[in-house]
Amino acid sequence: TSLAGFIRGLPKAELHLHIEGTLEPELIFALARRNGIALPYASVDTLRAAYRFKDLQSFLDLYYAGASVLVTEDDFEAMTQAYLERAQADGVMHAEIMFDPQTHTARGVAMETIFAGMARAMRRMRESAGLSSRLLLSFLRHLTEQEAMQTLEQALPLRERYDDLWVGIGLDSSERGNPPEKFVRVFERARGLGFRLVAHAGEEGPASYVRNALDMLHVERIDHGVASEQDPALMQRLVRAQIPLTVCPLSNLKLCVFPDLAQHNLARMLRLGAMVTVNSDDPAYFGGYVGDNYLACAHALGLTRAELAGLARNSIAASFLDDKDKQRWL
Ligand code: HPA
Ligand code: ZN
Repeated sequence: TSLAGFIRGLPKAELHLHIEGTLEPELIFALARRNGIALPYASVDTLRAAYRFKDLQSFLDLYYAGASVLVTEDDFEAMTQAYLERAQADGVMHAEIMFDPQTHTARGVAMETIFAGMARAMRRMRESAGLSSRLLLSFLRHLTEQEAMQTLEQALPLRERYDDLWVGIGLDSSERGNPPEKFVRVFERARGLGFRLVAHAGEEGPASYVRNALDMLHVERIDHGVASEQDPALMQRLVRAQIPLTVCPLSNLKLCVFPDLAQHNLARMLRLGAMVTVNSDDPAYFGGYVGDNYLACAHALGLTRAELAGLARNSIAASFLDDKDKQRWL
């Protein structure tokens, strides 16, 4: 079989995926037209041509602008449906999907609209295609902890209605200058409520942010975490404790975290025994879905088929599925 076919056939989970980052330019234009929203781009092609980023912030500016076309429940449903169908085509059996409610509530979109639209697509794909998925509500770290806390409180009344889907919280957006310790209280609150905890750390920020996300926020997984290698003692700890890292190779390439994929540390960390997983982050912006990420790494880093299978197995093991569901795919 071809390498792409081999990768597609590996049962895998996607654990680091921002649903707003799955909005393809075509869908952005269709939703803008439907909602009467003017875009500062003349066409799908000129929008796509603007996807040349120099760092995380230059991407985030476009990503938040793109998300502004999401208004109705139908919009959130269409976006989520398109992603889940695309993921399934890559052999994804389970997806843990982050969303940024603050991006939408700040524009007057109701929390319920966001949840209801995503839930319709997620439940439909569970029924019709057997694809399981969960939601991780992500706080924007460039905003205050108080705003994060208000967002959590705003979503809590919906917890029961979406308890088959909403299992955890995360932390994303501009990392440098917004360290984990800024969010100790809101993570403490979510932990007390029984939510699963993840946070972006060590993407552009230093290894100390990874350490603090573990020690001060008590997260169970680190999103990105590629800066951990700068601190050998931390790296040893990640290996020893098998703390999952949700690595996003094409994202790191597009945001200039690594100058080229051949220099990415994914293979080094994997070969050290770290619990590394491969994910797409914001596939519509970074030039590839999860299968593309596996394939690009296989080529650039010389990953063997056994290593690719190990990465897919890690993604199931590092998921928030219960053990019985994990066993189906392991
Ligand atoms: N890093 C931080 N915030 C984000 C990202 C990312 O890669 N994608 C969407 N929000
Ligand atoms: Zn991310």
